[in-house]
Amino acid sequence: MKYYAPKGLYDIKPEDMPYWHAVEREVRSTMPLYGYEEIRTPIMEKTEVFARGVGEETDVVSKEMYTFEDKGGRSMTLRPENTASVVRAYLEHKFYGKEELSKWYYLGPMFRYESPQKGRSRQFHQYGAEAIGSSDPSLDAEMISLSTDLLRSLGLEEVGLTLNSIGCPEDRNNYVNQLVEYLEPEKDRLCNDCRARLDTNPLRILDCKEESCQKVVENGPEITDYLCSECQDHFDTVKGYLNQLGLDYQLDPKLVRGLDYYTKTVFEVFSSDLGAQDALVGGGRYDGLVELFGGDPTPAVGFAGGIERLVLLLEELERVEMKKNGLDIYLATLDEETKQTGMELVQELRNGGIRAEIDYLDKSLQGQLGYADRYGAEITAILGPRELTEGEITLRDMETGDQTTVSLDEFRSEITNRLDSES
Ligand code: HAM
Repeated sequence: MKYYAPKGLYDIKPEDMPYWHAVEREVRSTMPLYGYEEIRTPIMEKTEVFARGVGEETDVVSKEMYTFEDKGGRSMTLRPENTASVVRAYLEHKFYGKEELSKWYYLGPMFRYESPQKGRSRQFHQYGAEAIGSSDPSLDAEMISLSTDLLRSLGLEEVGLTLNSIGCPEDRNNYVNQLVEYLEPEKDRLCNDCRARLDTNPLRILDCKEESCQKVVENGPEITDYLCSECQDHFDTVKGYLNQLGLDYQLDPKLVRGLDYYTKTVFEVFSSDLGAQDALVGGGRYDGLVELFGGDPTPAVGFAGGIERLVLLLEELERVEMKKNGLDIYLATLDEETKQTGMELVQELRNGGIRAEIDYLDKSLQGQLGYADRYGAEITAILGPRELTEGEITLRDMETGDQTTVSLDEFRSEITNRLDSES
């Protein structure tokens, strides 16, 4: 064995596909119910899109990006997330002049150079939604409800929602000043990264996974005590809508999320079904991002969920009915001439929506019948030289071994009837 997939990148194997398809189907059917249309952006962008959009001091940008120079000498980055790309596309195609509110969803691969572990990989897939053009708190609530609705429709019963508001930039400035004042004397208890963050981006200390840092932060000031009246009203209204919709949430004043563009509402969704630690979904409002990219001030809100984590959970909970890609009919042939007619018949069946297979491995009749059996063919047909001369074909019941002969002209309608009566 010479080649392996690169570390942290995984093949999605045929046996996992029913789960992936279930998630993708659910996303594609639920998003339009809430008015979201699909958008597909390229999997790479100029590095500045993420450096500016997500924030230079975030872990995602400073440590986790796959950045390289292309043959034209441009710095390119494989997208670590899709919000910055979507905002770039919104401005590039001047959607602000075409529609009052853009509601888009996406599905696709993202790349982050992280330490691979269960539910964390270097190429992973997200589904997500972005609504650009409204500051209305009902949209925050809708976004949250959409993200939990999707998980519930997939059969996850224990969905937990964590909620916070990180206010507007002014609120955050006031808060960060207090945070730094509180953290400065505790500096020695912080990890090296966080000591540096104290000068560059103190808010990121709240996301640090190091236990020592979390302990220090635990007793520190909370952002919700620094919200201006507008941000407080917005937060209260979001909570009001969530109550109205019957959505339970837990307030977590330390939830700030790892990306710099957030303002006001932030949220994460977990599943307690298997005591899973990591968030399935993360999102929030980002009212300043369009302006940061050179557009007019335009409020927006969105979320993204990780498909790998979701599939792991669905597999462990066996929440998706496993339907193997079954076989309707196997057509056994006995020589070159019958194979030629067989190819034509199989093609005709497939054109009629019937899953049909023929021998590609030069097997004997016995071998072909064994193959049909192993792959669970409902019907096996045998086309030998004698049948071909007489314009007939033999149908074999795989359970009883009974054989009947039908004319080649009636073959397709006979197969369709038999499959219909079995389903
Ligand atoms: P995020 O929290 O960085 O947010 O990622 C969202 C979700 O993607 C996570 O909750 C997790 O399920 C999944 N995820 C992230 N990294 C990995 C990884 N290395 N392996 C497997 N799954 C992973 C965002 O990306 C924002 N763009 C969400 C957003 C949209 N906010 C507003 N609009």
